[in-house]
Amino acid sequence: MSIWKEDTLLAREVTVNLGPRSYPICIGDALLPETGWLVSHVRLTGRVMVVTNPTVGKLYGEVVRGSLEKAGFTVVWAEIPDGEEFKTLDTASLLYDTAFQNNLDRWSAVIALGGGVVGDVAGFVAATYMRGVPFIQVPTTLLAQVDSSVGGKVAVNHPKGKNIIGAFYQPRLVIADTGTLKSLPPRELKAGMAEVIKYGVIKDAAFFSWLEKNLDRVLALDNAALQQVVEVSCRIKAEVVEADETEQGMRQILNFGHTVGHALESLTNYEVYRHGEAVAIGMVAAARIAVAMGLLPAEEFERLRNLVVRCGLPEAVPDGIDPKLLWTYLHCDKKARGRKVVFVLPRAIGQVIVCDNVVPEVFKQVVR
Ligand code: NAD
Ligand code: GLY
Repeated sequence: MSIWKEDTLLAREVTVNLGPRSYPICIGDALLPETGWLVSHVRLTGRVMVVTNPTVGKLYGEVVRGSLEKAGFTVVWAEIPDGEEFKTLDTASLLYDTAFQNNLDRWSAVIALGGGVVGDVAGFVAATYMRGVPFIQVPTTLLAQVDSSVGGKVAVNHPKGKNIIGAFYQPRLVIADTGTLKSLPPRELKAGMAEVIKYGVIKDAAFFSWLEKNLDRVLALDNAALQQVVEVSCRIKAEVVEADETEQGMRQILNFGHTVGHALESLTNYEVYRHGEAVAIGMVAAARIAVAMGLLPAEEFERLRNLVVRCGLPEAVPDGIDPKLLWTYLHCDKKARGRKVVFVLPRAIGQVIVCDNVVPEVFKQVVR
């Protein structure tokens, strides 16, 4: 689908079909100046609270605020500090204060302008302030455009674990302006690519082949290639979320690479890896396990490993990490069922299974 403003093609559209909670994801390379127009088209008016951080606010605050005001919105501006360490209940609490002091009511929308951290906290506030107010995602990192802004997972961290306090709360609208990716530090772009590769492996062999051919264009920030990446990724994520919104079964496949990835992040205190980097290592580890268990042909493993390496992403658990310790960390994951560790393992590019019988010996041998 496409979105037209008068005679100008503004954006491509992917719809997340969830009955009364369905919503459009608008994808284009110059959408921020149209934020107000797009928000008013999902029948919102009045007061909105934009949540961002100083990094993104400095780059894109003026254009977003200007566009919302031009469309008649009263804008409340709320900046939270930049960084995963601020994805906390304390930050959420400050946002509740700002919302309350500025008379946000149950019809006022919360708009997240930023990466996954801003999106997760702002979404958590939208889900809980006055038992839920309309929520809009304006993701500005590749990871947020292809993953965290879609599907309704919102959360803050708890000292005992990441994303422990949260909800499923779908946005009303996602505005993914791929033009914002031009200012992204290269490391963040590469980290986002891990989630993009994930979609090819879990569900779309043709997309994976397209990435193999077009990776250089994507990394060079070619407009058409970036929009293709965001559109296909969002379409795959939407299909999975539509089938299993609250992760009772199929949605688990989105966690490919995340079992080892989350354990590595946690073991290194979230200080060493970007989320996507840890996921890249986790995807290669899961694929190695699949080869060791006779599930995945070695050539398919090599294709995955090559693409990860070509993106400039790490592919191996570093030498300093003790496989035994990593195995114990796997049990602390939200995805662990009882004492069983759940892995998503590829059987081919484009096809995965959920598996809870990986034995520690195979894991340790593979990680070593
Ligand atoms: P992030 O939000 O920390 O952003 C990375 C850095 O890029 C930050 O310093 C940010 O200020 C900066 N930045 C953002 N947009 C920019 C731009 N256009 N130009 C220049 N700098 C920019 O990190 P992230 O990778 O976007 O998100 C990671 C978070 O997302 C984690 O907290 C993770 O748990 C969460 N997440 C959530 C889901 C979900 O489904 N809700 C899925 C995956 C990840
Ligand atoms: N990022 C995993 C999910 O949304 O389910």
